[in-house]
Amino acid sequence: MNEITLTPNVSQYWEMLYEQGLDEWDLGEATPALLEFFEHPSCPKSGDVLVPAAGKGWDAEAFAKRGHNVLAVDFCPSALDSMEQLANNNSNLQALNLDMFLLSPCEEKRGGKKFDIIYDYFGFNSIQPGRRDEYVEMWLKMLKDDGFLIGFFCPLCEEKYGYEPPYSISSKELEARFNGIMEIEERIVPRKSVESRIGKEEIWLLRKII
Ligand SMILES: C[S@@+](CC[C@H](N)C(=O)[O-])C[C@H]1O[C@@H](n2cnc3c(N)ncnc32)[C@H](O)[C@@H]1O
Repeated sequence: MNEITLTPNVSQYWEMLYEQGLDEWDLGEATPALLEFFEHPSCPKSGDVLVPAAGKGWDAEAFAKRGHNVLAVDFCPSALDSMEQLANNNSNLQALNLDMFLLSPCEEKRGGKKFDIIYDYFGFNSIQPGRRDEYVEMWLKMLKDDGFLIGFFCPLCEEKYGYEPPYSISSKELEARFNGIMEIEERIVPRKSVESRIGKEEIWLLRKII
């Protein structure tokens, strides 16, 4: 039998990390820096939210509890089990089992609409860097005109990314990627980063340019 090569492109790669307890990104609760951002004057107060690479769904649930309608997307069984439990307790939270690169505003089973807000924490930094163009295209496709992207970028640094996720990103690369398609409205250094992320992450509030 052929051996499967596990790369971050396939769900088996992520499932292996969940099963082996190597999911150190998972906080078991909403990210404190997101809850802090909810209090920031620039944080959009309303609108439907798409959460790609939602993991176990804690942050998606936090948006739902804040009153947003939320679609949380992941392709890993362990992530979906948890997300579905949260969705059972929050009628405005929906869990979708899908490769997020296949999201489409036109197909019901792949999202089926455009969103006011996309929240991305470790989605961008988890995909193989060669797929970043494709990923940003997905954001643009799924965002309403004038919609917001709330991107937590981590690690954000000038060093070149390594060979496994999270793949770092530099401010220069982000600025170049967003030039002409997304307005950088604000960059915020969270005060409540978890210890391992202190000094390594920023929240970028971006608005789609029509
Ligand atoms: C590093 S985790 C971050 C999870 C969550 N955002 C958090 O901060 O806890 C990355 C997640 O992205 C998911 N993922 C990676 N590539 C994906 C893809 N192409 N489609 C759907 N989910 C994907 C993985 O299954 C994993 O749950």
